[in-house]
Amino acid sequence: MHQLVSRSTADRSFRRRLALVGVAALALALLVGCGGGGPPSAEVQAPASSALEPHDTLRDVAAEGVVIGAAAAGGEHYLQTDTPNPFGDDDVYRGVLAAEFSSVTPENQMKWELIHPGRDQYDFAAADAVVAFAEEHGQQVRGHALLWHSQNPAWLEQGDFTPDELREILREHIRTVVGHYAGRVQQWDVANEVLDDTGALRDQENIWLRELGPQVIGDAFRWAHEADPDALLFLNDYGVESPGAKSDAYYDLAQSMLADGVPVDGFGVQGHLSMEYGFPSDLQANLQRFADLGLEIAFTEVDVRMVLPADGVPTPAQLERQADYYRQMLQACLAIQECGSFTLWGVVDTYSWVPSFFPDEGAATVMGPDYVLKPAYQAVRAALSGA
Ligand code: XIL
Repeated sequence: MHQLVSRSTADRSFRRRLALVGVAALALALLVGCGGGGPPSAEVQAPASSALEPHDTLRDVAAEGVVIGAAAAGGEHYLQTDTPNPFGDDDVYRGVLAAEFSSVTPENQMKWELIHPGRDQYDFAAADAVVAFAEEHGQQVRGHALLWHSQNPAWLEQGDFTPDELREILREHIRTVVGHYAGRVQQWDVANEVLDDTGALRDQENIWLRELGPQVIGDAFRWAHEADPDALLFLNDYGVESPGAKSDAYYDLAQSMLADGVPVDGFGVQGHLSMEYGFPSDLQANLQRFADLGLEIAFTEVDVRMVLPADGVPTPAQLERQADYYRQMLQACLAIQECGSFTLWGVVDTYSWVPSFFPDEGAATVMGPDYVLKPAYQAVRAALSGA
């Protein structure tokens, strides 16, 4: 991994103090509840069993330049008021996000339906809050996502636009959103999930591909590059960890985009794994071939879900296996010179997207309820620290 995040020692201790303030309320409650001694010490004490106890965090142990990220959970409460908004409402969650991670990705806050709710209306409030938080805590930001088939507003999907109008709508959106964050968002997922599981273009469900054809992918990258020439621009998808029809099709797509002079900088592998399917074969070699094209690699949405026992509590064997999946993914990234960041899609199981999208599956993140540090957390931390 390379890509330096320069941060002074003073910044680090400032951030650590801030993070301790962020979690102080719950940590104190735990201590009082246990009849335990004094306030948490600022000195590092490891191992801890909860992220709310003083400990060396993931970003603390990561080598300088190794970027460990997480999705900033929430955003959807704008549309569904019964949906939690952890990033906006939960100070303990925010404290953990600041303390553990050196990069954040807005989980939903920059998606079309949230940031562009009306044809002539942008709402940057929720996304601005994520970017301001990242700056306050010395974190990078991965912008997500500009051209996607999902989470688009009804005015767009159900509108009656000509191809020329749609092209102008997309161009204006990309220029406006990327321009709004120019210099503050280091990486953008420009094209998200443009291929289906067979490697074919999603040219029915993706409005842009359906109405404007495949050339619009390159246009989106060009418009994003014009709006922020310094941001790194990514293709991003799931199911591309192993060689096979889908990742081969991405390889061809990336190659032809580069040959056409499209400003594509990186290949984002989401890393949404299920223990039901086994660990992807040849992960490192598969990603290295993209790096060898001259692309950055990023793990962008890592989580590892499992089918839960009837009581909803993962068994020790499941947790160990999950830890192994996380370790192997991170080690693949660390072994690839061009792999610049490793982002977890969720900090804590309590707020993970998995149970509502995958029936019977869950426990996909590295922390259990009450921020208990699972074996997966320990595996990620050990790998980050070079152990
Ligand atoms: C998910 C979010 O985590 C959920 O909160 C939301 O309801 C649906 O989208 N691939 C992506 C992410 O690129 O944007 C998705 O995030 C997960 C799959």
